[in-house]
Amino acid sequence: MLQAASDPLMKVENLVVEYSVGGKTIHAVSDVSLEIARGETLGLVGESGCGKSTLGRAVLQLRQAVSGKVLFDGHDLTTLKGEPLRKMRRRVQLIFQDPIASLNPRRRIGDIVAEPLVIAGVKDPEERKRRVDEVLSAVGLDPALVSGRLPHEFSGGQCQRICIARSLVLNPEFVICDEPVSALDVSIRAQILNLLEEMKARYGLTLLFIAHDLAVVKAVSDRVAVMYLGRLCEVGPSEQLFARPAHPYTALLIEAIPVPDPDVVRPRACRSASRRRRSPRPPAVASAPAVRGPMRAVPARCRNCAWWHPASSRLAITH
Ligand SMILES: Nc1ncnc2c1ncn2[C@@H]1O[C@H](COP(=O)(O)OP(=O)(O)O)[C@@H](O)[C@H]1O
Ligand SMILES: [Mg+2]
Repeated sequence: MLQAASDPLMKVENLVVEYSVGGKTIHAVSDVSLEIARGETLGLVGESGCGKSTLGRAVLQLRQAVSGKVLFDGHDLTTLKGEPLRKMRRRVQLIFQDPIASLNPRRRIGDIVAEPLVIAGVKDPEERKRRVDEVLSAVGLDPALVSGRLPHEFSGGQCQRICIARSLVLNPEFVICDEPVSALDVSIRAQILNLLEEMKARYGLTLLFIAHDLAVVKAVSDRVAVMYLGRLCEVGPSEQLFARPAHPYTALLIEAIPVPDPDVVRPRACRSASRRRRSPRPPAVASAPAVRGPMRAVPARCRNCAWWHPASSRLAITH
C-alpha cells in the first residue's frame, strides 16, 4: 500500500542505489518511491542493513543513485551540480546517528555550529554569532557557557542537541534524522524526540525520521514507511499502519515491540549472585560426573535467582 502525500516537498521516484564491493554488487536501495508532504514527519523503519541510511544519503546527494529521481520542491537534485546543488543542500540537512562521532573533537562548539554559515558564505562574524546563539538557545543550551567548549566536555544527549543546532543554523526546510536517538541513553531519548518535535513546530520543518525501532517511529511520525531488503513494503498513516498492518513484515515488526507488563514480578536478587558467574543450563543429571560421598556434583537451580549454580556452590543456595 503506497500512499501519496498532498503537496509533497520531497518526492523520490524509482530510486536505485548500489555499492560495489570486491566485484560484487550490493543492492542497497531498489526502486524506492515515496513522497513527503510539507510539514509532515515520515518515519522510515526497517531492520539494520535494509538501506535506510543509504536512502537518506542518496536523497541528500551524498551518494550517487544508479537511477531514479529525487525531486525537492520540484527540482530534481540528481541532475544538479556545483552552485545550484549547494544552494539546494542548504535547504536540506542531516542529523547523524552518533552525535559524538559527528562533531570534530578539536573544534569549539561555537565554530562547529557556525561552520555551515561559513560554507554558505555568511561573512559577517557578528551575524554568524547571532545566528549560532539563537539556535543554541533554541535547543536548550546556554551559548555563553557552551560556545567556547570542546565536544568531549558534553554528554551524548548534549552533543545531539549541538548537532541539531548545527543542522538548523541555515534555516533548512527539510531535515533527515538518521537514527538520532539510537546511540543515546534510554532516559535521554524522550528529551531529544521532544526537542525535535519542538524544533519542527518552531521552524516549520519537514522531517524524514529514520529508525530501526518501531516504537520510536510511532511516537513521532505522521506517516510511516516500512523498508525491507532495500524495498518499501508498506507506507501509510501512522495510526492505520499500527492498527491494521497490511504487510506481514510490518505485522512482525509491530509484534516485536516490547510491551512492559507490570504484573511480571522480578525474582528477588540472590545475595551471593555477584560472586558467581552465570552458568548455562547443565547437562542432564545422568551425564554429570559421578562423585562418591555425601555431596554429589549435580548443579542445582537457585530458587531465588533462577540461576543454575555449579556443584561447588551448592551449599550456598539454600538461602
Ligand atoms: N559504503 C558502503 N560500501 C559498501 N556497502 C555498504 C556501504 N554502506 C552501506 N552498505 C551496505 O548497504 C546495505 C544498506 O546499508 P545501510 O543503508 O547502512 O542500512 P541501514 O541504515 O538500514 O542499517 C547494507 O547491506 C550495507 O552493508
Ligand atoms: Mg543506518
